[in-house]
Amino acid sequence: MPKWLPIHRLLQLRLTRYAWIILCLIAIIQFFATYGYYNYEHLEEENLNKYLYKHVNPKLMIKKSKPECKYEGILQSTKTLHTWEATKTFNDFIPKGIMNGSYAPEDCNPIFSVAILVTYRNRQSQLDIFIPYMHNFLRKQNIHYKIYIIEQQDDKPWNKGLLYNIGAKQAIAENFPCLILHDVDLLPLDESNLYACLHQPRHMSASIDKFRFVLIYKTLVGGVLAITSDQYKKLNGFSNRFQGWGGEDDDFATRIMENKLSILRFPNYMSRYTMLLHKQEAKNSARYDIMSENTSKRNSEHDGLNSVHFETISVKPHRLFTLIGVRV
Ligand code: BGC
Repeated sequence: MPKWLPIHRLLQLRLTRYAWIILCLIAIIQFFATYGYYNYEHLEEENLNKYLYKHVNPKLMIKKSKPECKYEGILQSTKTLHTWEATKTFNDFIPKGIMNGSYAPEDCNPIFSVAILVTYRNRQSQLDIFIPYMHNFLRKQNIHYKIYIIEQQDDKPWNKGLLYNIGAKQAIAENFPCLILHDVDLLPLDESNLYACLHQPRHMSASIDKFRFVLIYKTLVGGVLAITSDQYKKLNGFSNRFQGWGGEDDDFATRIMENKLSILRFPNYMSRYTMLLHKQEAKNSARYDIMSENTSKRNSEHDGLNSVHFETISVKPHRLFTLIGVRV
């Protein structure tokens, strides 16, 4: 055995140990120092009722023989799913009461009508989980809702803002007073997370497992956002200029603030979501430039809901959702 071997091995061992120590230190620093708020500013549970935007679609049949639906039990529910349970529950799905993606409670008159807008492309396995899961979740909430899938049916760069504008136009034309903009990979875990608008825009997905259940920054509105149709029109919707992943939601947050609206949230124990796994999309490196250009030029007046361009569009009702197919 050569003489140098024990020292070499020792050095190797030490190096390995140091490497481990350094790695552990990095992990600890990451865990504690990553930005994010667990205790973000939020509405108090006991005050939520007075912030609720109680509007129903005028086309919904209200029957005098039925009582008004109750929501206290939902808002006070402590039932919650663990992240690993969420993806299993859709197995026992029966589409009772659902037509064209729409549902209204049978034994009471709801006081909320909500259009759920989901922008989509090439995520079939997520959609297969999302649709039954959401119907199971929403049917327990005593609300009237309709799910729209807005699919970009071309290979051009992804344009989420534009797709939301198209979905919003359709939902507004169908008289929905409240829009919930929803990522297809997010599933709500808390039964108390009532799918309804407030008098101000409401960021609903404040506490996502992927982000260790913290709010990563205060102006985040991506993920799931509830906004009244009137407010959406007032902001002129989303900018149509963001292509690829990211930025359009941050730009939308700027529009919210420029219009003197605020971003409200429920407490974190009512706002938890699990994110379905997927490969991170390529980020749009131009997003910060577009954002600052939009802000400095106050582009929101002529870039948004009033300037949506597309090649073709089709609206097809399916039993579990209404599909809006778009080529941009
Ligand atoms: C992007 C947003 C995104 C957020 C959280 C930001 O860098 O610009 O679009 O919602 O990260 O993932």
